[in-house]
Parts: sequence; structure tokens; C-alpha cells
Amino acid sequence: MKQTFRPGPAVRGTLVPPPDKSLSHRAAMLGAMSSVPVHVTNYLQAADTQSTLDAVIALGADVRHGARRGDFVIDGPGLTRARPGAAIDVGNAGTLLRLLPGWLAGQPDGGRWVLDGDESIRRRPVDRVAAPLALMGARLDARDGRFSPLSIMSRPLTGIEYALPVASAQIKSCVLLAGLLAEGETTVVEPEPSRDHTERLLAAAGAGVRRDGDRITVSRLHDLRLDALHVPGDPSSAAFHAAAAVLVPGSALRIEGMAANWTRVGFFRILERMGAPIGGELETRATAAPDAEPLAELEVAHGPLHGTRVSADEVPLAIDELPLVALLGCFAEGETVVEGAAELRVKESDRIATVVDGLRALGGDLEATEDGFVVRGTGGLRGGTLHAHGDHRLAMLGAVAGLASRDGVEVVGMEAAAVSYPGFADDLAGLTR
Ligand code: S3P
Repeated sequence: MKQTFRPGPAVRGTLVPPPDKSLSHRAAMLGAMSSVPVHVTNYLQAADTQSTLDAVIALGADVRHGARRGDFVIDGPGLTRARPGAAIDVGNAGTLLRLLPGWLAGQPDGGRWVLDGDESIRRRPVDRVAAPLALMGARLDARDGRFSPLSIMSRPLTGIEYALPVASAQIKSCVLLAGLLAEGETTVVEPEPSRDHTERLLAAAGAGVRRDGDRITVSRLHDLRLDALHVPGDPSSAAFHAAAAVLVPGSALRIEGMAANWTRVGFFRILERMGAPIGGELETRATAAPDAEPLAELEVAHGPLHGTRVSADEVPLAIDELPLVALLGCFAEGETVVEGAAELRVKESDRIATVVDGLRALGGDLEATEDGFVVRGTGGLRGGTLHAHGDHRLAMLGAVAGLASRDGVEVVGMEAAAVSYPGFADDLAGLTR
């Protein structure tokens, strides 16, 4: 589907972002692992999180929907009784593909599952989770040793200490979930902090997760008891409208009910550093291990930007928003550099290549590096056509670029936005009326 986004009127009004995708995936998976039914509210209704709900149903969870959108009670098989034998279609959902094997690999009564998904998921590596699970004693088999279909044969697991080769919340979460089923202790060592939703949920469930600097440790659990769970608004989705507000003159946007977890809002810190006027409180780096997800109300307005340097330690805290940093860099004064972000190459598309090629086609002056990009700000973008390459964040990037451009942008493949944010174009239209 093609959709054109014209240089627009200012972005004004209030946005309540859609429910957080990362937390929705975890609500469904940990909800299914809980031995008591869990009341989930504000679950994201999008393609990715529907894949996760379908997966846990196939594994034996009963999901009873409530009257309100995104509300349900999930009554799962519990930690150790996932139904064997299911073929799981993960669709486009990398988080499902990477977290679920941690739960399945240690099922005590044996079982075999095959995880597979769409064309994009088949290009995304799973050896990153298969390797630590194999060290714990699991048996996994991936196509070419690296890609899905991934088959998992459950085995008794033993705890390990695992130093993550990349700062990835997906790998960390997978190993921690397997650690709940493994004998002894399992410790994950992070090279840099990454989103900590799994740790917070496990702490809230009283699962005895411990954090000591860059080390996170769990031990075997007999059952997991999760309380009711409310999913806050998604900062990665809100980031698109926030960027539009900063770029389009006359804009003033209020964002309500957004997750303020400091491991998720790195983009807003970068935006502020580039000179954008932002009001409101975000969580600052937590010292103790938190067990809740704080909320924020923010005000974002138009303002002139200057270039910035995003270094490797900031990357995991803004990973999904880095395409927007490239767009902002096109409008900023001076150079914007992102480094230490090679992980972008294994997202829903190779986001270093697709973002650089996409913005160049719109008149941007930027180039790819091995692990990021360098953008020379020229004060604006001409416009043109941007291909989404089946990547939801690229589709939404094109829309924001169109609004801020001189001639508008036609986005080819706009339907990809439904992976994380089905109402995106309507929300943007509502704010630019
Ligand atoms: C996610 C972690 C990130 C992120 C992805 C969601 C998660 O991936 O890019 O969109 O929910 O844990 P990595 O952990 O692989 O960096």
C-alpha cells in the first residue's frame, strides 16, 4: 500500500501512545508461565503481539478477552507444562522468536517445537539464543545453524554464567527465562545495559532475580506467580510523533501514559541533547533493581536542532529509534554520528542500509558506516519516495519525513506499520488536522 505524507500543518494536541510492544510480548509469555491467572490490561493489538498471543494459546494458555480493547485474563499452562508438539508461527516478531526458546528448552517432560516466521524473520539470526541454551544443555537445531525454522527439543538444563556477546535484551531475557528452569544459578553479564522489562517482571513476581552491577542472576523456580499487569504506552511508537513535533514549525505535542523506564527512553535524552524543547520527567538510571514500570507525561515542541554523537553505550537504550536520529540529523546544524550500532543490521531490515538509502533518496546527505551512520545536516529534506522494505519502523520514518519535507514523501509499503502501530497514520492525521 502506498501512502503520501505531505508537508504539513503543525503537530498539536495530545497523544496517548499505543501499548508497549516489548511489554506486551512479555505479558503474554510470562502470563502463560504464571501458575495463577493474570489479568492483563492495555495489551497491544498489533500483528507482532497477536503472534505472541497465538503462540501461548498453542502452548496451552486459555485467554478470555474482557470488554475493553486489550484486556484479558490469561490462564496459562504454568512454568513447566507448555503443551508439546506445536508448530509456532512467530510471524514478524523477533522478540517472540528469541524469548520463547528460553521457556521451551527446559520443559521437564520432554517435547519438541518448531518456530518459524515470515520472510524477514527467516533472515534474522537465532544462533544468538541457541548458543547459550546449548551451553545449558538444550538441544536446538537451526537452519544453517543460524536461522529459523528453529527446532527445540527440551532437556534438563543446568545454570551457566553467560557474558552476552552483544547488548541485547532479547538474548538476556531468553537466558534468564531458561534459568528459571535450570539447576543451580544462571547469571547473565551485560556489556552495556539494555531494556530491563523481563527483570522487572520477574522481580514483581517474587522470582528472586538479583542485579549486581552488570550481572543479573536467577535460580530455579517451582512456580511463577504474576500479579495483574497493566501495559504502559510505547516510547518507541511515541518517538515518531515526537520527532514530527520537533521538526514541524509551530508544533506542540503532549504525550500521556508513556513508559518512562530509563532503559527505553534514550531517544528522548538524545532529542533533548540535540536542542529540542522537552518538558516532563523521565526515570533516571535506577540504582536498586526496580520491579515496576514508571509512566511519564511529556511535552515536546518544535525547535532548532544541532548535531550530536550517539555512542555505543547509548545504543541499546535507543536501538529502535536510531532511524529517527538519522532523520533528525538531516535537519540539524552540523554532523550527527551514530556508532557502535551494528545490531541495526539484523533488525526487521538492515536498518543501516535501508535508513541511509531511504533518506538519501529524499535528498539527505548521509552515509553508512560499518556500525552506524554519519549525517550532515542540510536544514531540511526535499522529499520523494521511500520504500519500507516490510519494516514497520521504516514506514513510519517515511511518514514523519514527509510531514517535515519540502515536497512530501510517498511511502511504499505503509501497511508494515501495523506490525507495531496499526493506528499510526490515523493518530498522525489527528494531530495535524
Ligand atoms: C526488544 C529488544 C531489542 C529491540 C526489539 C525489542 C525486546 O532487540 O530492538 O525491538 O523486546 O527485548 P535486541 O535485544 O536484540 O537488541
